[in-house]
Amino acid sequence: MEITHREFGHTRRGEAVTCWRLGDGEAFAEFLDYGCTLRRLCVPDRTGRLVDVVLGYDTTAGYEDGDGYLGATPGRFSNRIGGASFSLNGKTCLLAANDGANHLHGGLRGFDKYVWQAEEADGGVRFTRVSPDGEEGYPGTLTASVLVRWSLSGGLELTYGAVSDQDTVVNLTNHAYFNLCGGGDVLSHRLRVNADFFTENDAHCLPTGRILPVDGTPMDFRQAKPIGRDIDSDAVCVRQAGGYDINLVLSGSAPAAELYAPESGIRLTLTTDQPGLQLYTANTLTGRTGKGGVPFGRRSGVCLETQAFPDAIHHPNFPSCVLRAGERYARSARFVFTHD
Ligand code: BGC
Repeated sequence: MEITHREFGHTRRGEAVTCWRLGDGEAFAEFLDYGCTLRRLCVPDRTGRLVDVVLGYDTTAGYEDGDGYLGATPGRFSNRIGGASFSLNGKTCLLAANDGANHLHGGLRGFDKYVWQAEEADGGVRFTRVSPDGEEGYPGTLTASVLVRWSLSGGLELTYGAVSDQDTVVNLTNHAYFNLCGGGDVLSHRLRVNADFFTENDAHCLPTGRILPVDGTPMDFRQAKPIGRDIDSDAVCVRQAGGYDINLVLSGSAPAAELYAPESGIRLTLTTDQPGLQLYTANTLTGRTGKGGVPFGRRSGVCLETQAFPDAIHHPNFPSCVLRAGERYARSARFVFTHD
């Protein structure tokens, strides 16, 4: 598998941004070291045409100014932490509040807004970022890494690692917005998710702590259905978010999810060892211009964020998101693309 890299641009702080490409003319993935960001993912459709199946921008400024975490690796804790604070070992940690009174995707300057170190390693590219003790309010110096590997048959494999010198919380994911047609909205994409339950949200998109069956709700993706079928339902969990913005509790059987676009014939098959999948249908993405001048906006992509449950630190009935000092955090996700 070919790995190449080229200069992509500079941040406003003057840092060089590099674009890493894995693959060849048949199919490839591109990552920026800025935010450890998946910028392009080009796979063939049923006619052999290469389709870029993720949303993104042409310039570094697009990513610096953008608010939607397009393709980025948020951190230290992806998703929300209620009240922007938590206590650990009897100590209260005050985090940056950047989503009303709550903390979202790592704070005011999360991992998505830093240039990561990058090197070729283990048949792929390893991106590493050292987050200092106290950054955005989190305890402990945390070294986070994402090993990215790619092949058309094996798919895009993301292996997340982290280690901290103090007890802390961590939740790493990728925030790609998939559009398996390369444009338009994703309402006709058919989604299947191996999840029998979801975590109920309040009006601020924070879990109430209740884990409810998907049965009879718009969150029921146990059989494949078009994303648009129930997206405008009156059920409170979709109504209050203007679409899907919900953590589905993965049952553990593979694959975790399948996404299929009847128009292009492209199918994404997702496997992961994470307990949760945040399904987000770009409800708040305002209209903007993406790669190659292609416009995109609300509902033009779908995020399948493999992760710990949101706000897990405040809910003892959720799987723990605590990383103890010296322990190794290891999680993975694999996105395989085929077509009919
Ligand atoms: C969150 C949304 C948020 C979006 C962009 C998603 O992961 O669940 O609530 O609006 O990211 O920030």
